[in-house]
Amino acid sequence: MFETKLKKYIELIEHGLVHFLPKENKFCANFANSINYSTLNGGKRLRPVLTLATFELLSENLNLDAAVPFACAVEFIHSGSLIHDDLPSMDNSNFRRNMPSCHSKFGETLAVLAGDGLFLTAFKILTKANEFNIKNNQIVKACSYLSEMAGIEGMVLGQAIDMFAPQNLYNKNGNDAKQALETLAKLKTASLIRAACALGCFAAGANEQTTKKIDSYAKHLGLAFQICDDILDYENENESEAEQEKNKLTYVNLFGLNQSIEQAKIQTEIAINAIKNFEKSQFLINLAELMLKRIK
Ligand code: IPE
Ligand code: IPE
Ligand code: MG
Ligand code: MG
Repeated sequence: MFETKLKKYIELIEHGLVHFLPKENKFCANFANSINYSTLNGGKRLRPVLTLATFELLSENLNLDAAVPFACAVEFIHSGSLIHDDLPSMDNSNFRRNMPSCHSKFGETLAVLAGDGLFLTAFKILTKANEFNIKNNQIVKACSYLSEMAGIEGMVLGQAIDMFAPQNLYNKNGNDAKQALETLAKLKTASLIRAACALGCFAAGANEQTTKKIDSYAKHLGLAFQICDDILDYENENESEAEQEKNKLTYVNLFGLNQSIEQAKIQTEIAINAIKNFEKSQFLINLAELMLKRIK
């Protein structure tokens, strides 16, 4: 059941993404190539799956296509954020999903532009929801919230803290470091996961109380997800990367491996408790458990 649903969501998302991605331009073929390469090379699609699953949980409208533009817009932002995250001036990662990262394959100039293109086009994609009877006021809400969660008070701020807070705080190992780590994890990762779930709520026309419960699930799932990402990065690093990561403010660096695993479990449990009383919440519960299983 869970696997069938997940597969159905991912098929809809992949189909939507291909539809919204750019076609080749004869004066710069690699512009479209760099964007398509980075968006179609095997992401888990967690965020857009959350949008579709939340929509299906709450909506009376059984046509899932209606939520696909919102789901794809979130994945566009995510994809752009990973391209920029890997740049030499940021994490300087030559690989993403076991393949050369965007700038390693296409060069830094195109990687910057590919990210810019994905960020900005996401907002055009949101407006496509009106072809599926999503009302203008729902689209405005989605637009405003996605911009807030991704932008200068959300994901981008989180990335800035990630890049600059460690140098001042990491070695103190005190409350400042812990606070900074939680802030950056909430902002750089949980923000977009919250947006993904909220957009499902907006598309479904959910009331405020319901949206709040879903947001609590998303916040804690987002935190658990970043803790797991830190654990996986720690376990998968080769030596030179490990050297570089030593100075970073991560859960493993600050709390050690065992405590980090414990915290990921606790955050997942809190997430699940926030939504378990919804009648059809089994899929979201299984999804949170699946994300945690990545570290086992
Ligand atoms: C990686 O996200 C970056 C983080 C915010 C932790 P994902 O692990 O969801 O990336 P893909 O899209 O599945 O590769
Ligand atoms: C990426 O965080 C967060 C965003 C792109 C917003 P990380 O730098 O921790 O993620 P990975 O490990 O490169 O996927
Ligand atoms: Mg990073
Ligand atoms: Mg990174």
